[in-house]
Amino acid sequence: MNNRITELFNIKYPIALGGMAGVTDAKLAAAVSEAGGLGTIAGATESAESLAAEIRRLRDITALPFAVNIPLIAPQSKDLIQVVIENKVPVVITAAGSPAVFTAALKQAGSRVVHVIPNVDAAKKAEGAGVDAVIAEGFESGGFASPFEIGTLALIPQVVDAVRIPVLAAGGIVDARGYAACRILGADGVSVGTAFLATVECTKIGSAWREQILNGRDVSTKILARGIAPMRMLANRWTEELEKLVSAGVTRKEIMKFIFSGDPMSSEDGPFACGQAVGLVRKIRTVKEVMDDFVVGSEELLKRMAASD
Ligand SMILES: Cc1cc2nc3c(=O)[nH]c(=O)nc-3n(C[C@H](O)[C@H](O)[C@H](O)COP(=O)(O)O)c2cc1C
Repeated sequence: MNNRITELFNIKYPIALGGMAGVTDAKLAAAVSEAGGLGTIAGATESAESLAAEIRRLRDITALPFAVNIPLIAPQSKDLIQVVIENKVPVVITAAGSPAVFTAALKQAGSRVVHVIPNVDAAKKAEGAGVDAVIAEGFESGGFASPFEIGTLALIPQVVDAVRIPVLAAGGIVDARGYAACRILGADGVSVGTAFLATVECTKIGSAWREQILNGRDVSTKILARGIAPMRMLANRWTEELEKLVSAGVTRKEIMKFIFSGDPMSSEDGPFACGQAVGLVRKIRTVKEVMDDFVVGSEELLKRMAASD
């Protein structure tokens, strides 16, 4: 299919792998790009050197377009921006910070720039800063959450109505139904995290995280550290410890230190970020199977809907 997003990124399907700190490496990103989407390497926990190495590793696997995600609050974000500029990364997805700071430099270097936003005002600001597209991330999403707590169903059409640039929807999109729904809401594409955690090519999560995803239900995730550093994770013994720290009134710095001290590869409970739609993820699939479900499954759904009118 062809639309503003496939043309902007030069990809086959308007489906991006959401950058996931410490998880979306070159291997997983390349698999999504090879399946016709936009694979994303997460920069959040990388140094300038390790990010450059991941970019080289991805280019050894595929020549197709890909993205690098850079949360601008990361202390090393300026160095990471330098790396993506030097390496002529086709798409740079910035998050958690002002899009006004680096967008012009990134675009001058030839990158497409996308910014992650949680509300309408932020989308307008990003458009004003010159980004090529926004990812509108609803409250269902795994990982750090916005204090506005706007769900995907309410957020996407409001953002679509407010900006002229293309909008990718994120948060709670795990299967063909979610993908089709977001397209109907007006999104030009989607950005997906949780569904890609449960894939063969996702090798950066350990057995406990994988098991908790496969056993997850509608009520299995929780927003932790509300008002301090809100983050959606699978509720487990580790998050109980985090809640105790929050109740004891420790500083934001200490909370962040605790969050980043956890081991994602652990076979015990840990800081397992995950979206609310986890209850729809029932088995480990290949990236291609996840992509086929979105693409082929949504076409069938939409046809069936049209035929039932
Ligand atoms: C484990 C995990 C880590 C994440 N890390 C980041 C990150 O480093 N940067 C970012 O912009 N978003 C991050 N996110 C958000 C995802 O990019 C994506 O927007 C989100 O997962 C979409 O919601 P879904 O999980 O319901 O598909 C993370 C999400 C998860 C689940």
